[in-house]
Amino acid sequence: MSVQSQAKRLTTRDIRAKKRSGENLAMLTAYDYVTAALLDQAGIDILLVGDSLGNVVLGHETTLPVTLDDMIRHAAAVQRGTNHALVVCDLPFGTATDPDTALRNAVALLQQTGVQAVKIEGGAAAAPIVSRLVGQGIAVMAHIGLTPQSVHQLGGYYRHGKQEEEARELIASAKALQAAGAFAIVLEFLVPELAAEITQLLDIPTIGIGSGADCAGQVLVINDLIGLSVTPPPGFAKPKADVAAIVRAAATAYIAEVKTPKDPSLGQ
Ligand code: KIV
Repeated sequence: MSVQSQAKRLTTRDIRAKKRSGENLAMLTAYDYVTAALLDQAGIDILLVGDSLGNVVLGHETTLPVTLDDMIRHAAAVQRGTNHALVVCDLPFGTATDPDTALRNAVALLQQTGVQAVKIEGGAAAAPIVSRLVGQGIAVMAHIGLTPQSVHQLGGYYRHGKQEEEARELIASAKALQAAGAFAIVLEFLVPELAAEITQLLDIPTIGIGSGADCAGQVLVINDLIGLSVTPPPGFAKPKADVAAIVRAAATAYIAEVKTPKDPSLGQ
């Protein structure tokens, strides 16, 4: 029996039980083996192989260019680095356009990576897609509010739920996605009071990002948490480290060392 199969990996049942017991859920993104292994050792509950891969790893302006093959390659690496966290992988732009397409792509993702769940962006319109996948035994995390795959249709990145009608629609979407069988739902950049209300209304855990403290859990892009970026993090991120500065300093020291003429009598 391998070490991995001896360890206890969190399941979607554990994740739902944590909400019922009042334990907040900690979720981070990961895109590679070593980062996933470090976060797993730290005890993270959920690792998301987010399609933010497109922005933070591949250097695209949006998540739209990310392909299913990109997600499969990175999700497989993250999965290999973990034996504790529940691993969730985004279905990227254009791969969940209807229930059949989503099912085909989710099956490919699960079979080729070993991850435990997929995440789908979208409101009530995505409920039939969630329902189809759940009906086939696939664990689905939903995602409403700021849904970056729809950035051009939304007209930018901004806080959602400020208008009463939009707030009502978001509540209806959250309920429809829970009824469709989602085991958890990401609330991205919602008015905090609305995120708190949705958290109270739902049985499944809400996982907030930029949506205030009163969600059942929180998620951050790992690069924003550790300061590994060439652009400033979003205001809500509160980095806990400045890895970019450490990398620059190490590279500067290395370059200086290599370029300094050596004393031939040393290091023989
Ligand atoms: O792609 C991603 O990283 C995400 C999180 C920000 C929730 O969807």
